[in-house]
Amino acid sequence: MAEHRHRLAVFASGRGSNLESILAAAEAGRLGMDVALVVSDNPRARALSLARRAGIEAQVVEYDRQKGRDAFGRCLLELCRDREITVVALAGFMRILPQSFLDGFPDRVFNIHPALLPSFPGLHAQAQALEYGVRVSGCTVHLVDSGVDTGPIVLQAAVPVYEDDDEDSLSARILRREHLLYPRALALFSRDRLRVEGRRVRITSDE
Ligand code: GRF
Repeated sequence: MAEHRHRLAVFASGRGSNLESILAAAEAGRLGMDVALVVSDNPRARALSLARRAGIEAQVVEYDRQKGRDAFGRCLLELCRDREITVVALAGFMRILPQSFLDGFPDRVFNIHPALLPSFPGLHAQAQALEYGVRVSGCTVHLVDSGVDTGPIVLQAAVPVYEDDDEDSLSARILRREHLLYPRALALFSRDRLRVEGRRVRITSDE
């Protein structure tokens, strides 16, 4: 068991359905940590209203093209440090974080991606999978490194791809699995059960 209770920040740019599943897990006592902050780069993100409704601090940090990625990362890092955040979950966050932010949270920034990585990183993963013609796709929770969807894999779940699938139907099937997988991965972290060894994340047994 971790010695202290972790304080999670969720970064989300839009709809926030993964945030919703994380909040539901926290509410049910399945997360093992507190959701202390929600941050969005998009002032209109539904994620912000979901957070406020749950009584969680919601902050907007807009990306300023002039100032660039490092300045954006510094703002986020300062905000997280100020709120004593110990772990970060990206949930549909559409910005790439600079290394300086990641260095502030070594092996403590998680992301969820709607494909079985390393296949189909980047945008429109479900459309990429359909176009390629795979029979199985799914979702991946991974640690964030400086690449796009390249960090060590924590958990994956597979779903079938059916003959009549389109991007919407496949995305919906994957999303249902995402909502189970992300809280599960974060709960493993909060129970101190993840060991990062190079590219591999070992899951230790529950004592
Ligand atoms: C999800 O499909 C997630 O895998 C991807 O962005 C989407 C976010 O959806 N990174 P939501 O905002 O959590 O509903």
